[in-house]
Amino acid sequence: MVAEPVKSFQSKRGDPDWRRRAAPAALMDWKLQLLLLHFFLSFTASEKTFEIDFNNNCFRKDGQCFRYVSGSIHYFRVPPEYWKDRLLKMYMTGLNAIQVYVPWNYHEPQPGVYNFEGDRNIEIFLDLAADVGLLVILRPGPYICAEWDMGGLPAWLLQNQNIILRSSDSDYLRAVDSWLSQLLPRMKPRLYQNGGNIISVQVENEYGSYFACDYNYMRHLYKLFRNFLGDQVVLFTTDGNSDKELKCGTLQGLYATVDFGPVPNITQAFAAQRHFEPKGPLVNSEYYTGWLDYWGSNHSTSSPEKVAQGLYDMLEIGANVNMYMFEGGTNFGYWSGADYKNKYLPVTTSYDYDAPLSEAGDPTDKLFSIRSVISKFLDVPHGPMPPATPKFAYGLVPLKKIGELIDCLDDLSPYPPVKTPYPLSFEDIKQYFGFMLYRTRLPIDAWNPTPLMSSLNGVHDLGYVLVNGVYKGTLERDSVLMVSVTGRKGDQLDILVENMGRINFGESFNDFKGLVDNITLGSYILNNWEMYSLNIDTLISAGWPEKWQHMRHPKKKGVNSTVPAFYSGTFLVPGFPRDTYLKLPGWSKGQLWINGFNLGRYWSSRGPQKTLFVPGTILDAILPNNITILELQGAPKETYGLFLERPILNDTVQEDRG
Ligand SMILES: *[C@@H]1O[C@H](CO)[C@@H](O)[C@H](O)[C@H]1NC(C)=O
Ligand SMILES: *[C@@H]1O[C@H](CO)[C@@H](O)[C@H](O)[C@H]1NC(C)=O
Ligand SMILES: *[C@@H]1O[C@H](CO)[C@@H](O)[C@H](O)[C@H]1NC(C)=O
Ligand SMILES: *[C@@H]1O[C@H](CO)[C@@H](O)[C@H](O)[C@H]1NC(C)=O
Ligand SMILES: *[C@@H]1O[C@H](CO)[C@@H](O)[C@H](O)[C@H]1NC(C)=O
Ligand SMILES: *[C@@H]1O[C@H](CO)[C@@H](O)[C@H](O)[C@H]1NC(C)=O
Repeated sequence: MVAEPVKSFQSKRGDPDWRRRAAPAALMDWKLQLLLLHFFLSFTASEKTFEIDFNNNCFRKDGQCFRYVSGSIHYFRVPPEYWKDRLLKMYMTGLNAIQVYVPWNYHEPQPGVYNFEGDRNIEIFLDLAADVGLLVILRPGPYICAEWDMGGLPAWLLQNQNIILRSSDSDYLRAVDSWLSQLLPRMKPRLYQNGGNIISVQVENEYGSYFACDYNYMRHLYKLFRNFLGDQVVLFTTDGNSDKELKCGTLQGLYATVDFGPVPNITQAFAAQRHFEPKGPLVNSEYYTGWLDYWGSNHSTSSPEKVAQGLYDMLEIGANVNMYMFEGGTNFGYWSGADYKNKYLPVTTSYDYDAPLSEAGDPTDKLFSIRSVISKFLDVPHGPMPPATPKFAYGLVPLKKIGELIDCLDDLSPYPPVKTPYPLSFEDIKQYFGFMLYRTRLPIDAWNPTPLMSSLNGVHDLGYVLVNGVYKGTLERDSVLMVSVTGRKGDQLDILVENMGRINFGESFNDFKGLVDNITLGSYILNNWEMYSLNIDTLISAGWPEKWQHMRHPKKKGVNSTVPAFYSGTFLVPGFPRDTYLKLPGWSKGQLWINGFNLGRYWSSRGPQKTLFVPGTILDAILPNNITILELQGAPKETYGLFLERPILNDTVQEDRG
């Protein structure tokens, strides 16, 4: 990194007012003036530039034709302790750049509340990339897709129920402006021409695939990016490689690039970009090395040979390439998004992506195939590839039932419930993630099994139904709309609703969570609901249930064991904590925490993901490590977890209907 005074001086280049602002320098003493002059001279002598050369169809870096071979990595999907390891492996593969998204919802959890600390410290991540010797292609959105909750947009935007996201809707733009006025000034000194390593910045993301096609919105973003980042930086867009997709995605002043996976005919694949940019470098901003997985679908893979061949073809014609993903990582917590293709498709916790670096950051055969292709075109650094991180199979850990969720309500939901005639959404009561309990009473006697019904898409996304505390079945957004119940008038009816991730792509992405429509029992519309906002994560990270004394465990008569329920267990780590994978044999569906860290969702009864990645960084070498799980649908007879050395990501048990 360059010293601070140089940085701030250089950063004035992109600022049209810098001469006026620099005027007070005349009042400084002569020594300082000389110093500044010295910096100015040395700086103009070695001017750092990054531009588009439209005559020679290349980027031009410090005056030389330049082409990047880049890989995508998301700091928000990798524990911060491992950032450097992954970046080093990318550098050793022969990449000269990385491409990084910035998820707005990760950094602004509440309107006006910003978080750039710890695992959200993007500046440290960018410093590490610079230390390792990698340039950066920054993709700050505001929309990023990325199979991330709501494509990176904060769910609190939905408090305006009619907001038109990704358009010049005034509420949306106001929120975008205040977010980017926090983010972009942090990025400005990091631009290449200002002494940093960011060579280019993407505006929006695949906007041409969005229905709104609002050029005023794109123009607004263009002005905003120029205001904050200056006139020099290369700004670009990325779209699918068809004229249709590029039509609404591109804008005068933004360099149009495309994305596509391995294809047989590269010239043809770039034809659409050439149509929109007759001159300038060819750029594939997302060359797919693999693909994501959905719960209930088969695991996606892409052969190393095919990926390597496609890369070779692009490099041979001089194209710039970013591989998406190079390191996929993990959707920890509740961050995974969902797609909507005729039906709702939630993305798995693992974002391994069959990428060249595995979920755990281990080099794969695909990585070595890619390295050997790159070495035909660029100098690949000498020296060994850093090895896979050591794994350990900690074995079997018994898990004991702590209590049923509805018996822990006093702890989980310390405030009185919200009372409402008809159900409200999560967003209405400002809980954006996780679980909410909806409670009412049966309005009639249901001696015979009676249908409890939701409308199509009335439950976002899963509703676990209980009568008098006994689990009856699960309503599923667009596949299970009825659960049969019996009971008496006045019996307690609970529906625990789980948010499985907001839609991240497409039109229907004002994706409110909770009971978003009425529920009926027979011909009755249920009313007089109580909504309990559940604060599970805060509680578990504060040591619940181990450190909690006042829990009550009322025993239900005649019922052995029902769900949703919490289970816990402990295990010791012999020696240095290592990465591991937890399998939950016989368990159905739920959420896992270790030492208060939310490792994400499991859905063993569906697959294809059967193990959850547990980074060694969250384990303790001395204290007992605490596992907590919330099982939603059904625990096995013998309740234990099994730590393995290897992941199982390809075991689809039940293919999703539809
Ligand atoms: C690839 O596509 C281009 C443009 O469509 C075409 O001219 C060329 O013949 C194709 N090459 C092969 C090998 O099919
Ligand atoms: C998923 O894999 C199974 C087993 O290989 C196969 O029978 C099934 O057709 C596949 N499903 C899809 C949708 O490809
Ligand atoms: C639920 O039913 C009530 C009573 O019929 C009605 O007023 C309300 O609009 C319904 N809610 C929704 C979301 O349709
Ligand atoms: C696990 O819980 C126990 C009991 O509350 C506590 O003493 C211990 O510190 C916890 N372990 C870790 C690693 O936090
Ligand atoms: C409780 O468990 C026992 C033994 O597994 C079983 O025989 C019995 O039917 C169960 N009772 C209920 C109410 O599920
Ligand atoms: C899953 O992957 C493992 C390891 O790559 C492989 O051995 C196994 O055959 C695969 N199973 C299925 C069902 O594809």
